[in-house]
This record gives sequence, structure tokens and C-alpha cells, in this order.
Amino acid sequence: SSGTDRELRAPICCILGHVDAGKTKLLDCIRHSNVQGGEAGGITQQIGATYLPAENIRERTSLKAEATIKVPGLLVIDTPGHQSFSNMHLRGSSLCDVAVVVVDITQGLEKQTIESIGLLKRRNVKFVVALNKVDRLYGWKTCPNAPIVKALKSQSDDVQREFKWRVAEVVTQLKDCGFNSALYYENKKIKEVVNIVPTSAVSGEGIPDLLLLLVRWVPEIMMEKLTYVDTVECTVLEINEVKEFGTTIDVVLINGALKKGDQIIVCTKQGPVTTSIRHLLTPYPLKELRAKQGSYERHEELKAAQGVKIVARGVQHALAGTSLIVVKPGHDLEQAEAAAMQE
Ligand code: GTP
Ligand code: NA
Ligand code: MG
Repeated sequence: SSGTDRELRAPICCILGHVDAGKTKLLDCIRHSNVQGGEAGGITQQIGATYLPAENIRERTSLKAEATIKVPGLLVIDTPGHQSFSNMHLRGSSLCDVAVVVVDITQGLEKQTIESIGLLKRRNVKFVVALNKVDRLYGWKTCPNAPIVKALKSQSDDVQREFKWRVAEVVTQLKDCGFNSALYYENKKIKEVVNIVPTSAVSGEGIPDLLLLLVRWVPEIMMEKLTYVDTVECTVLEINEVKEFGTTIDVVLINGALKKGDQIIVCTKQGPVTTSIRHLLTPYPLKELRAKQGSYERHEELKAAQGVKIVARGVQHALAGTSLIVVKPGHDLEQAEAAAMQE
């Protein structure tokens, strides 16, 4: 692994797709089985984002101890199907490194799927397709959390036949969108041909495959982009009222670090607002989140990539999708404010 000892940040991975394709369920499935397994500390559910530490992915995929995972984890951002990718984050191209497009295998590509794929294409964002709900194939024999090839081997000829033609259908539809695609385990050109990973968010088949593909394929195609740098790159996801703290901004910290007390600039329709970070918060890891409903863990400093909740005065009109700027001591505030609004 010479030449790869640079510090990588977690890739930011958006989940896109048509309403009810199973985007949220897929994330639930990933989180749930880790909670069930009783693994401490495990997965942290973050603000609009879920952080999956590499160690959890390792357990989930039964990866051999000596196999390396080059990224510290994955930051997964769920999006609602009815809301377009562009609404969710106006400057999304800088926000997500890759996408998982969830397709219901029984429905094929639907309207929102095609729109999502179009957006990704325009922004040149690489993606994989999770071909979800394989358990809905008539006669599917459940193999909980099994790797997909193994699960497919246990199916009847009829199920395998239906699976094959439905995959072929989706491959044709993707072709119509301008993409060559293949089942990931048959894909010999993983940099050019879109990987399809069959999954079930209900019984977990293919989930290990999806996680493993992401942690291996993503650093392979974008090592440079994933290299951690100190310069803060941060996008506002949404504004929320939280009982104990008042107005908070949920952000995705793409690069760099945020510190309590940092002077920040957010954009509003009325212009830039300069304020400072009073609290830096993340929800407690999932297990604790349940126990301590609504409580957040406070931090002095947080490093990218993460979902972060910021408590600050005067941020109630911050615009979703805009950049949050950190003003370094000694920097010209007026200049920074002008730059913030321009971005
Ligand atoms: P929106 O956020 O509304 O766009 O939908 P979504 O893509 O997040 O879908 P969601 O996870 O809410 O799932 C929609 C429905 O499909 C729910 O009833 C899920 O239980 C069901 N579902 C999701 N994934 C699977 C799957 O793999 N198999 C089966 N059988 N049902 C699934
Ligand atoms: Na839904
Ligand atoms: Mg959802």
C-alpha cells in the first residue's frame, strides 16, 4: 500500500431513487442488524446522515482481519424520494462523492430514478445501483444477510430465471439513460460500467456486498478527492429547532475541521450572517440515542467527513444548500462575507 498512507476522509454517499424504492429501509437494515448484534459504539446516526465506521462495515461483511479498508467509514445521506436531489442540496455536486441509486427490482427504473440518474450524469457523480426488494421475487427463499451470490444459489430455477430477466430489463433501461451496467460480480470494468448490487432491505441479502463494494470501489476511483484537507468545506442541510438548544443548523462537513467558538458565516436571503459556533453536536451512537432520547453529544472539535449539528445565534434564516464559511483569525471579515454569498 505504498503511496496510499495519506489520510482519507469518509466518502459521502447519497441514497437516491423513486418514492418507496426502499432507500430508508436499506439504511435501517444496515443500522438495525448492527444494533441487534449488540456491537457497542457502532453506527452513529447523524444529522440527516448516518456515519458507518469502517469497523462496523468490517463486521457486517465478515471481511478478513488482514484486509484493509482504506476509508475511516462511510457518511451516508438518505434523501426523500419526493424531494429532488437539487432541492436537497443546491450545490450537491460538491456534497456527495458517490450515490447509491435504489431501484425496486419489481418496478424497474421509475420517474424519480431516471431524474436522479440524469442529475448524477450532469454532475458527473459516479453511482452504483442497489437493485432492491429481491425478496419480492415470487418464491424467493430468504437467506438473512447473506452475500447475494450465495443467496441466489439457494433459489429455485424459476426465481433465478425471473431474477435474470428483471436484471436484463434494468440493464436495458440504464442503457437508455446512457449507462452501461452489469451485476457487480460480473463486472470487469468497475471504473466504466455501473455496478448493480441486488439487495433486500428486509432480509439483508446483498447488504454485505453493497457495503464492501462502496468501501473498496470508492477509494479506488477517487483517492485524490477523498484526501483529507484542512480547508473547511461545509454545506448546510437544514435548520431545526431543538428543545434544549434553540435554533440549530444541520450541516455536512465535507472537509476540514470545525471547532467550538469558530467564527462562521452563513448565507441568508438578506445577506451573510456572521456568528460563532456555541455548540458542536452529534447524536449519541444509535444505542444511546434510544436511551437518552433527544440528547446530543457535545464536541470541542469535529473532523470531516461528518454530519454535524451546530448551535449558533442568528442562523434561523440560513439557506439550505449554501456553504458555511469559517472565518480564520486574521482574515478580512468583509471579504469572507462577500465570498460566502458568491459561492
Ligand atoms: P421515500 O423516502 O418515501 O422516497 O421511500 P424510500 O425509498 O425510503 O422507501 P422506504 O424505505 O420507505 O420503503 C418503502 C416500502 O417498501 C416500505 O414498506 C418498506 O418496508 C418496503 N421495502 C423496502 N425495501 C424492501 C425490500 O427490500 N423488500 C421488501 N419486501 N420490502 C421493502
Ligand atoms: Na417511503
Ligand atoms: Mg425514505
